[in-house]
Amino acid sequence: MGMGRNEIIELLRIPKDREKNLFTLSDKARQGGVGNKVYLRGLIELSNICQKNCLYCGIRKDNTQTNRYTLTDEEVIQAAKFAHSNHYGSIAIQSGELNSDQNTLRIENLIKEIKLLSDNQLGITLSLGEQTLETYSRWKDAGADRYLLRIETTSEELFSKIHPNDSMHLYKRRIECLEDLKKCGYQVGTGIMIGLPHQTVEMLADDLLFFKKLDIDMCGMGPYLEHQEAVLGSSDMPVQERFDLTMRMIAVLRIMMPDINIAATTALQAINPLGRETALKVGANVIMPNITPTTVRANYKLYENKPISEDCLDIQEKTLFERILTTGLEIGLDQQGN
Ligand code: 5AD
Ligand code: SF4
Repeated sequence: MGMGRNEIIELLRIPKDREKNLFTLSDKARQGGVGNKVYLRGLIELSNICQKNCLYCGIRKDNTQTNRYTLTDEEVIQAAKFAHSNHYGSIAIQSGELNSDQNTLRIENLIKEIKLLSDNQLGITLSLGEQTLETYSRWKDAGADRYLLRIETTSEELFSKIHPNDSMHLYKRRIECLEDLKKCGYQVGTGIMIGLPHQTVEMLADDLLFFKKLDIDMCGMGPYLEHQEAVLGSSDMPVQERFDLTMRMIAVLRIMMPDINIAATTALQAINPLGRETALKVGANVIMPNITPTTVRANYKLYENKPISEDCLDIQEKTLFERILTTGLEIGLDQQGN
């Protein structure tokens, strides 16, 4: 639906007592665009080693207070097998950013192995930051299906406030990478954080228009959450407001782009234990259950209060499935949800 900037801004500012109409519309748009199924992408947090220093992030390179880890190939394969045998349609491999030949090759081999063990069934999403066109295309050729690279904010000015001002953290490079990913034939996803210091509703409206213009296939938006060891200051927006605004962003995006995949992100769960389920009701259709081995999970801490369940995976899965079903939606088992 073609929605103008002013209209979007108005919807993002809608008072709480009139929010219901917006959510009714977005729920209908979801139903029409992607149906009633929720798709699962098992999230594997491969490593918290990162070469970057994004000011908001808890695992930025200069944070010495973090125990750094990298999963073994065996652990990654085990997690992929868990996802496959539990009928998740796909997995997402996420890690800090590394540009090394050794890492490129390792990822390439892991992708091939996972495709092989699942008889090509399991979809693979990568979220491994900025890479060269050559690396992106090697991973695509190895069998990766999708790539997630958040722009974080489409305001170049705000982008430069939340990243160090050096050649490692360039807005223009991020945009180039998104274009390269499209060229390689990935289903491309991007996203932003909501409630960043100095972020305005106008900027958020422009973010949504950017998603539409880029014609993205997937989107992940979550509230900005402060981290003790991060350098970026705190947001002026109360946490509950960031949560509410994220819901409205999801709803408006769903109306603008009815048939894309929108994630109910983990950061929402950090604010409200049922945050992800709430997002599903207002327009999201993808959930990314964490299937990283529980032993290292606490180390992949992007922000404070990141949920880290120590229950065994089977129990976590059972509770999550039950909670999704209470929303009245169905689970798209064994489906990639393209
Ligand atoms: N609050 C919320 N989201 C964060 N991310 C990183 N740090 C934070 C934070 N403090 C998000 C970024 C990144 C993704 C992996 O996690 O959007 O792209
Ligand atoms: Fe690294 Fe991503 Fe954190 Fe930036 S947001 S420091 S690239 S893990």
